Amino acid sequence: MLLSREEMTFDFAGARLEPERDRKLLAWVMNQFLYGEVTGIQCGHWLYQAPDLEAARFFSRQAVEEFQHVENFIRILELLGEEPAPAHRLVRFLSTGMMPATFEEHVCLEMALGEGFVLMALYGVIDTIAHEEIRAILGRAVKQEERHVEFGEQRTMQAIRGRPALRRRLLGLSLVSMWAVRRLGAFMRSRLPRHEVLSQLPAFLQFSVDCAEKRLLRMGVLTKPLADLGALEKGLAIAETYGTSVLTAPLRLLPKKRLTETYLRDPSIAGQGRGSPPLRAVR
Ligand SMILES: [Fe+2]
Ligand SMILES: [Fe+2]
Repeated sequence: MLLSREEMTFDFAGARLEPERDRKLLAWVMNQFLYGEVTGIQCGHWLYQAPDLEAARFFSRQAVEEFQHVENFIRILELLGEEPAPAHRLVRFLSTGMMPATFEEHVCLEMALGEGFVLMALYGVIDTIAHEEIRAILGRAVKQEERHVEFGEQRTMQAIRGRPALRRRLLGLSLVSMWAVRRLGAFMRSRLPRHEVLSQLPAFLQFSVDCAEKRLLRMGVLTKPLADLGALEKGLAIAETYGTSVLTAPLRLLPKKRLTETYLRDPSIAGQGRGSPPLRAVR
């Protein structure tokens, strides 16, 4: 990856997520991740759109990995003694409500940036959770997520090298997604309950946006730091994005009744997570 684990590590100053005390919170978090993994069905769409064999091979392998991660999160819910439950509507909308129109937008926005944000959230849980088995399960999953991000980075750079005009459009889309994450941080600031980890979420989100900026710089999507980018340049990039990408190739709304709508009723998920062994906290 273009950023190291150290660069992507947020300092939670020793704050911990305790499986027993924070059981409901952890179950909520794991259910968001569970949904995210089921969106692995979209690998099928990108496999069908793959521009070359390398990409086709990658997407078919990625689909296998994302469905292994579905198993991982079901196991974690079982360890917590909690059941699979629906994801928040905002999470559902952000991950399946729309799909990029092109392969280039997918590798940049969804893989390099999007899976990059998810990876940082996974690192955050790994670094704070006081449960050895959950940490080990997540530790194995992040190795694969790192490769998904890396593929996104590599193919974004390749795309820009081949078609420099693409850069500004990818920049416009990236600016909008970073703005959304920043907004989320501002929204949370006044609404978070007192909790040693949760209270640090706004700072963590800002840190994630800073990492995304570094990634965009290293991929060459950004040619200078955001602070040096004038309002006009930002405006032009966003205008170009919404003038050409969204209006002429609209973000596709997915039809209903895909697996992402029905997975909780699936025989391999329904009723999982009950009657699990007692939790063992690790300090
Ligand atoms: Fe995954
Ligand atoms: Fe992934």
